[in-house]
Amino acid sequence: MITQDKVLKALRNVMDPDLGKDIVSLNFVRDIRIESGRVSFKLILTTPACPLKAKIEGDARSAVSSIKGVKEIVIETGSEVPSAKTIPEKESIKGVKNTIAVASGKGGVGKSTVSVNLAAALAKSGSKVGLLDLDIYGPSIPTMMGINEPIQMNAEGKMKPVVNYNIKMMSVGFVLEEDAPLIWRGPLVMQIVKQFLKDVDWGELDYLIIDLPPGTGDAQLTLAQTIPLTGSVVVTTPQDISLIDARRAIQMFEKVNVPILGLVENMSYFLCPHCGEKTEIFSSGGGEKTSQKYNVPLIGKIPIDTEIRVGGDVGKPIIILNPKSHQSAEFMTIAGAVASMISILDYK
Ligand SMILES: Nc1ncnc2c1ncn2[C@@H]1O[C@H](COP(=O)(O)OP(=O)(O)O)[C@@H](O)[C@H]1O
Ligand SMILES: [Mg+2]
Repeated sequence: MITQDKVLKALRNVMDPDLGKDIVSLNFVRDIRIESGRVSFKLILTTPACPLKAKIEGDARSAVSSIKGVKEIVIETGSEVPSAKTIPEKESIKGVKNTIAVASGKGGVGKSTVSVNLAAALAKSGSKVGLLDLDIYGPSIPTMMGINEPIQMNAEGKMKPVVNYNIKMMSVGFVLEEDAPLIWRGPLVMQIVKQFLKDVDWGELDYLIIDLPPGTGDAQLTLAQTIPLTGSVVVTTPQDISLIDARRAIQMFEKVNVPILGLVENMSYFLCPHCGEKTEIFSSGGGEKTSQKYNVPLIGKIPIDTEIRVGGDVGKPIIILNPKSHQSAEFMTIAGAVASMISILDYK
């Protein structure tokens, strides 16, 4: 006879390779039902963006199928994103489970492009996602996400995020006049940041992606220290000059104890749209070298690509504009890696 115990025993052999534990100990298996030869259960993973979803489900299926008498297996998958551990000296953002800063040593390397596509990829996988644009020097989220509206307040006087593509957004760009002189911005920044951290009604978010201002100066350091960050993603291009700045960004996060989830090498290569040939326009191997030297995983290499640029200009991230493309697949991989790293951190 098939029993609950037999099913659990079989499923104890299925490991989550990221978390290094079996799926029963991790409490991923719920609601086991047995009706003659039919076994059904729920498999609740730690993120909808889990890149191992298919593998874990397949392993679970084959484990249960080894029980004598099992004729049919029905698995319903779902997810519950865990919350980051609270950071004692920092107040967490209400309703937000995890915060991810996207940073770069210098501007123009594709930080905002990575931010919007990371947000879009996580949202596409079914996560609840927010996007916070703190780039005071060049808030490009309104343009890249195709929406610019004045901020409305809710009944409690909290700011309501602007929503597009199922992503809740807040941007310095919604608040500052486009041609406001830069000199105003410095002193205003901390004030705006504090308001954005305290007074936005995000509702419930699994992930809040934060587009930081480029660079590793005082402003960035203060932000990295002020915001309760679960982790960070550092964006670079393959040129030496950009990599040197990326290393500074890595060191900055290390200094303030923010885990670095990964390094993304953008404009990494060019894929010929006609023949598919890959050309390394800039020097190659810089991302790998930096990743090894600083022990930070290289989680993605994005090609230099017209469609990515056009997507930014017309307000449609490539994930939305051309979801089936190779470029979108690369961004989905990056999102999966980020979500996995966060799950590992949250479970530690
Ligand atoms: N992989 C890419 N291929 C082509 N153009 C890109 C790519 N990444 C970014 N861009 C373009 O380069 C410019 C700078 O990118 P952006 O994301 O705004 O950089 P940052 O936020 O680091 O200043 C934008 O016009 C953007 O569309
Ligand atoms: Mg930017």
